[in-house]
Amino acid sequence: MSGAKLIDGNVIAAKVLEEVSVDTAKFRKSQGRSPGLAVVLVGEDPASSVYVRMKIRDCGKCGIESFSHKLPVETTTEELLDLVDTLNRDQNVDGLLVQLPLPGHINTRMILDHIDPAKDVDGFNPKNVGKLVRGDEGVLVPCTPAGVMRMLDEEDVDPRGKNAVIVGRSDIVGKPMALMLLHRHATVTICHSRTQDLAQVCRTADILVAAVGQPLMIRKDWVREGAVVIDVGMNSIGPEDAPQLILNDPARVADFEKKNYTLVGDVSPDVAEVASLITPVPGGVGPMTRALLMANTMKAAQWRKE
Ligand code: GUN
Repeated sequence: MSGAKLIDGNVIAAKVLEEVSVDTAKFRKSQGRSPGLAVVLVGEDPASSVYVRMKIRDCGKCGIESFSHKLPVETTTEELLDLVDTLNRDQNVDGLLVQLPLPGHINTRMILDHIDPAKDVDGFNPKNVGKLVRGDEGVLVPCTPAGVMRMLDEEDVDPRGKNAVIVGRSDIVGKPMALMLLHRHATVTICHSRTQDLAQVCRTADILVAAVGQPLMIRKDWVREGAVVIDVGMNSIGPEDAPQLILNDPARVADFEKKNYTLVGDVSPDVAEVASLITPVPGGVGPMTRALLMANTMKAAQWRKE
C-alpha cells in the first residue's frame, strides 16, 4: 500500500528541457550558433557509456550541440589534460564534462582542477565548489543536487526550518546537497558509514535524501510519518538479491525476465507507506540530473557571452 505521492522526475525533467529549448533558440538567434557541450569518456565502462549516450541524446532534444570525445582506457593523465586544454580554448564549447569514474591510473583531481570553471557544468572544479560553499550567485553547481532542489520547489516543499538528513557524503551528491539545503535554511545532518544509530538519525528527517549506493537500505521504520523522501540511489540487482517486495512488483518481474536485473534505489519500496512524497527509481532523480546538465550548459553559454 502506498500513501506517498510519487514525484515524477520524467515530467519535471521534460519541463526543464522545454525551458532550456526556449533559451537555446534565443541564444542561437543572437549568437549565430548553438550552445555547445563537450562530453569526454575514457574507457568503455558500460554504465558510463550508457550515461554519456543519454547526455548526448538530451543535447539533441533541447538544441545544444554536442561534441563527443571517446578515448581509449590507456589514455594518460597528460593526454587527458591536453584534451581538456583544447576544449577549454574552443570557443564553440560552453560546457565541458569528463565522465567519472576515470580509470584508476588517471589523476582525477588534477583533471577536474584543470577544467575551466566557466565551462565546468558538473560543478566539480574547486573554484565552483568554493563558490557554492560561500553561497555565491551565478555559479555552476552539481546537477544531481540541483535537480533535487528543483523537484522540491516543484512540489512546494520549502526546506526552511526543516530537518534535512542526507545519507552519503560524496563530493558529487552528499556534500553539495547539504550546502544547497543549508542555503535554503534547512537544519542539515550528513550521515555516512561511521554514523552511529543511522536509523534513529533518519527518523528525525522532514526531508530525507538517500545517496549511498546501497540497494534498498532505507527501511520503512527509519522514516518519520509524512517525511519527504528523495532517492538518489541507482543500483542494479538480480532476482537472487531482490527482497519479496520487489519480487511482488510486476514491473520488476518483467525487468528480470527481459534483462535479468532491475534498477533500484537506496530506499525500500515500503517507505512509500509512511512518506508524504517520494521519488521513484527509475524515473525520479535520474532524469533530473540529466536535465540540469542541459540547464547548466545553457547557463554557462549565457554567462560566457556576458
Ligand atoms: N558519474 C556519475 N555521476 C556523474 C556526474 O554527475 N558527472 C560526471 N562527470 N560523471 C558522473
